[in-house]
Amino acid sequence: MRTILVTGGAGFIGSNFVRMVLEEHPDTRVVNLDKLTYAGNLENLESYRDHPNHIFVKGDICDGALVESLISNYKVDALINFAAESHVDRSLEEPGIFIETNVKGTLTLLKVALEKKLERFVQISTDEVYGSLGPEGKFTETTPLSPNSPYSASKASADMLVQAFGHSWGLRYNITRCSNNYGPYQFPEKMIPLMIHNALKDKPLPVYGDGMHIRDWLYVYDHCTAVWKVLTEAQPGQVYNIGGNNEKHNLDVVRLILKALGKPESLITFVKDRPGHDRRYAIDSSRIMAELNWRPSVSFEEGLSRTIRWYLDHSEWLNHVVSGQYQEYYKRMYSNR
Ligand code: NAD
Ligand code: TYD
Repeated sequence: MRTILVTGGAGFIGSNFVRMVLEEHPDTRVVNLDKLTYAGNLENLESYRDHPNHIFVKGDICDGALVESLISNYKVDALINFAAESHVDRSLEEPGIFIETNVKGTLTLLKVALEKKLERFVQISTDEVYGSLGPEGKFTETTPLSPNSPYSASKASADMLVQAFGHSWGLRYNITRCSNNYGPYQFPEKMIPLMIHNALKDKPLPVYGDGMHIRDWLYVYDHCTAVWKVLTEAQPGQVYNIGGNNEKHNLDVVRLILKALGKPESLITFVKDRPGHDRRYAIDSSRIMAELNWRPSVSFEEGLSRTIRWYLDHSEWLNHVVSGQYQEYYKRMYSNR
């Protein structure tokens, strides 16, 4: 039995990853360390909370003693770091916490991983570390890092620390840089679930700027299978881009959501743009496809339709996460746009 320490496993991508491992890899035990910030939610793990191969621990990745004890007590073989502050708009409002968790938290994990001689350290990064693209070209793993937001700057800092630990002390690491994920259990501060939620409530759909920004959408399950391949098959020291090959203008995505829900386009409301808003992201995934034989399995149309179905079927989950603090967040973020 292999034991992996998954951090941030109660968040959107982390919980999808934990669920996939428990379902599809019964020889793997998951120790799941999550601070349960506003974005972490044990309801994301539903019936998997008490799964025999799942140990959930509420705690902070900045707590080195806790991380060390988990690795020793559970004889952890490898660590996958999903834990992060992950929302660009929040990073523009309050950058400090992004440095705490994304930079200092990653540094804490790196120190312990090195000391405990873990077999592998997988850092879940983002295509946003590469900055913004013009109309042509795609990010490759050799594109220079050029982050534009406090979020992407903190993720790029973490990536460089991971590489420095590999270079200086031989830490066996991989870094994955994926494009925008979507799918079940995504918190409705990110575009796709926010638009689905607002459309369901007949509220305005706030499109930033001219709506012609482009994101390259990746269905979350496909991201999880890619991370598993990296964990189990990649050579250490390698960076992998992961993308869905689904470039879309934001406005087109919003229109598709309205159409699928039978709601009018008059709900679309153009609002003040995000400061420093990256215009276009597009990922070249040819390295992971060639070296690890990974392929995305879900087209954007299919993934979006599954996602919308999931939100329709999980109105209780949605109502819970948008109660309380979310209302204050929404007012703060959108009332002055
Ligand atoms: P999320 O915000 O949904 O979840 C983050 C999780 O980390 C939450 O469960 C939260 O409680 C936990 N967490 C935060 N601070 C912590 C701390 N100090 N200690 C322990 N746990 C802590 O994020 P997500 O969308 O699931 O993203 C996961 C990872 O993937 C992040 O590293 C993010 O940068 C990266 N990523 C996300 C996307 C995307 O589209 N969502 C795209 C590229 C990369
Ligand atoms: P988001 O889901 O926040 O991801 P990221 O900024 O990390 O790419 O945003 C995706 C795109 O949608 C981005 O171009 C910003 C835009 N957007 C809106 O137009 N309106 C919104 O309310 C949100 C949250 C995002």
